[in-house]
Amino acid sequence: MHTVSLAAALAALSSTMVMADSPDPSPAVSTSLSGNGCPQGSASGSDTSFTFTRFSANAADGSTRQTLNCEAHSNVSGSGAGWQVAVSTVDAKGHVTLDPGARLDYYTTTFFSQNADVSGTTHGVITNNGATTLDTPITIHQVIPANKLVYSPCSTSSGYAGISNVNFRIALSNSNGAANAQIYNEQLSYTWRRC
Ligand SMILES: *[C@@H]1O[C@H](CO)[C@@H](O)[C@H](O)[C@H]1NC(C)=O
Repeated sequence: MHTVSLAAALAALSSTMVMADSPDPSPAVSTSLSGNGCPQGSASGSDTSFTFTRFSANAADGSTRQTLNCEAHSNVSGSGAGWQVAVSTVDAKGHVTLDPGARLDYYTTTFFSQNADVSGTTHGVITNNGATTLDTPITIHQVIPANKLVYSPCSTSSGYAGISNVNFRIALSNSNGAANAQIYNEQLSYTWRRC
């Protein structure tokens, strides 16, 4: 019993310490969006949290596939010198209607403009393996694994860490019947390390 609670206490302590190792005050993040999932005038929000009115894919005729994306371009600054930042999680909420056999794949690709050759992609999928239509709200929680975290250049004395690009993409496919997927909102969060 004591061993277990000590381990839990240590885990809580170490995760607190990791979270505490980030710039204070928090940096400013200024974001613009582009992509066919968020055409001009259809997205709102600021910094790290966006809502969409037209991030909606249909694959209605069987054997069709539709891909939509929204890419966030964020200037991360004001963190002081000596920090690197990486996008660590992407959360999204939406809705799917998937006939049997239909699937929704979703991908997050992150990179920094200063070093666009280095990117990391995380992939998830929602598949309807059942016999009836799946019609349900969805909550996507993508945690970028450690080996796919893409860190910014080291922040300069002005606090500038770089332009972070996050491409969130959905691909809807089906072999028979109909499928629809909508993304209503998206939220980014970051992790930091010293450099
Ligand atoms: C990033 O934001 C900072 C603070 O607003 C600004 O001074 C800087 O010019 C911006 N850099 C780029 C490349 O947009």
